[in-house]
Order: sequence, then C-alpha cells, then structure tokens
Amino acid sequence: MKAPEAEAVAPMLRSWLFVPGDSERKLDKSRDNAADALILDLEDSVAKDRLPLARETVRACLQARTERSRQQLWVRVNPLDTPLALADLAAVMAGAPDGICVPKVSSVADVNRLAHYLDALEAREGLSAGATRILAVATETAASLLGFHTYLERATPRLAALTWGGEDLAAALGASDNRDARSGDYDDPYRLAKSLCLAAARAIGAQPVGAVHVDFRDLAGLEADCLRDRRAGFVGKIAIHPGQSAVINAAFTPSEAEIAHARRVIDIFERNPGLGTVGLDGKMLDMPHLKQARNVVALAEQVNRRS
Ligand code: COA
Ligand code: MG
Repeated sequence: MKAPEAEAVAPMLRSWLFVPGDSERKLDKSRDNAADALILDLEDSVAKDRLPLARETVRACLQARTERSRQQLWVRVNPLDTPLALADLAAVMAGAPDGICVPKVSSVADVNRLAHYLDALEAREGLSAGATRILAVATETAASLLGFHTYLERATPRLAALTWGGEDLAAALGASDNRDARSGDYDDPYRLAKSLCLAAARAIGAQPVGAVHVDFRDLAGLEADCLRDRRAGFVGKIAIHPGQSAVINAAFTPSEAEIAHARRVIDIFERNPGLGTVGLDGKMLDMPHLKQARNVVALAEQVNRRS
C-alpha cells in the first residue's frame, strides 16, 4: 500500500495535444505550445501511405526533444489488432517517448499486451524498465463498454491515464449520430462511456482525461466542457488544435481562491489531529474534503514546478 500522501500526489497532465505525426509543420508549431503533453499521432490523423514517413518523423522529433520537464512527448500507435502497431512501436521506442497512447482497446488485456511489448522494447533500447507509461483510449469499441471491470483485476502499473471518445464509439455501435440535435448533448451510450471511464480510472489510481471538444474554434464551449469535466472528477483534457491548450490548462488549474480555501481546510485538520470532522465557515468538513484539499494543493504545486 502506498501512503495516503503519495496517493494524493499522482502526477497530473492537464492538456494533451494531438499532433499528426507526418506533419513537420505542426510538429514544429507544437514545440512552443502550452500543452503539458503532446500526443504525436500515427493513427487516424495519418494517411496509411504516409505512415512509414510519419514513424521516422516522430522518432526524429523524440530524439531531438530530450528536455521534457515542461512538455511530455507521447505517441499514439495504431490499434493492437492491426499489423501496424508493432512496427509503430519498434520505430518510435528509440526516441524514448514518455508514454504510448493506445486506441480501440476492448479490455485491460489489450493494455497489458502493450505493456509486454514495452518490456521488450525498453530492454532493446536500454531504457529503464517500466519507464514508458500508457494512456488508453478506453471507449472506442462496443466490447469496451462491457469490459471496464477488467481494469480492476490486474492492470499494468504503466497504465497512467484513461480517456474516452464518442466518435469511434458511435461507428462501433452503428449509430447515425451521437448527440441530441437540439441540445448538442451526448446520447446515453456516450454518457455511460464517460462515466465508466472516470470510475475505472479513479478505481485504479489512473488519471481520467476528458474527451476532445471537436469544434476547435469554439473556445467558450471548450471552457464550459472543461469545467463540467473538472467538476465530475476529470483532471485534464484532450486537445486537437494548438489554440485549445491554454483554455484547458486554465480550466484545470486551481484558482488562487481554491488554493487558499484548500490550505485552510488542511490547516484546520492539522490543528485538530484527533478529529475526523470539523466545522469551517459554518460548513461540515470530513475526510473527503481533506483529500480534495490535498489534491488541489498538490496540483497547484505541480503546475508551479512545471511553469
Ligand atoms: N498541432 C500543431 N499545430 C497545429 C495543429 C496541431 N494539432 N493544428 C493546427 N496546427 C497549426 C496549423 O498548422 C497552423 O499553423 P500554420 O498556419 O503555421 O500552418 C495553425 O496551427 C493554425 O491552424 P488552423 O488553420 O487554425 O487549423 P487547420 O485548418 O490548419 O487544421 C486540423 C485543423 C483539425 C486539421 C488540425 O488542427 C489538426 O490536424 N488537428 C489534429 C488532428 C488529430 O490529430 N486528430 C487525431 C486525434 S482525434
Ligand atoms: Mg479515432
């Protein structure tokens, strides 16, 4: 068992920007972007005939950018049930990516299979064992919605984050659309996917990452979406356009007022060590509030260290 303090201080990445792996121009552009992590893409944003070029381009980018304290570099590979995935991994692991994003997983078995591949490739490249982490896109197949319980059984410790998406899932479910035409709200299967992703991630101590806001010109809508996600428990969000990263970072960064309140909560429990519940400003506080307050302070400290 980890100490409760250690649990509260999981490393958190707020914004994850997808960058098509075959685009030198976008890769250049992404270097100064505010995103906490880039996901250099070898899957859906790259045409199949450009995949060999994209693999080389992504590896070169990883090898050129070894200073990653402000911005991590992850790679999205093709689905593991295609013959492309192993060649993707074999090409990019020489660049020591911080993590691999794996799409279209149906259960934790897929994630654990990736972990075994990484064991071998880390050994080949002389990387420390277990250093490469995993972000699973956990809701892109019909089976995935029924397989979330498997994450609780034996997920690889590499699994650092789970995210979800409504576009590939709609195709997998045979839907003609995934949203209500009038309100723009997701239909039931996608709300279920979001909730299961959040619960599974929290249950195993992984980071829940909110889905992409596809209308990338609509920054007000993005902000509202981020705040909804954050209220629900997500700690970051996927971006597809460089203009989205700053909005995401701001929405997932605790405000001065939140930090000040969190410090007061921690302080009052520290001054009353025997008590499980105390009053502050006329409101009852107990252990969940203390845990939340510690999370807020830990996140604020991480953000400070990064910037
Ligand atoms: N990463 C880095 N740079 C990007 C970028 C990205 N994801 N998206 C756009 N840019 C760059 C553009 O190249 C452009 O720079 P330039 O004028 O110097 O060429 C600038 O940002 C502004 O781009 P804009 O004109 O507003 O958008 P666009 O029409 O060129 O591109 C998309 C729109 C959606 C095609 C593009 O944002 C994109 O490729 N997104 C990633 C898609 C992806 O990876 N999808 C898979 C995950 S769901
Ligand atoms: Mg996709």
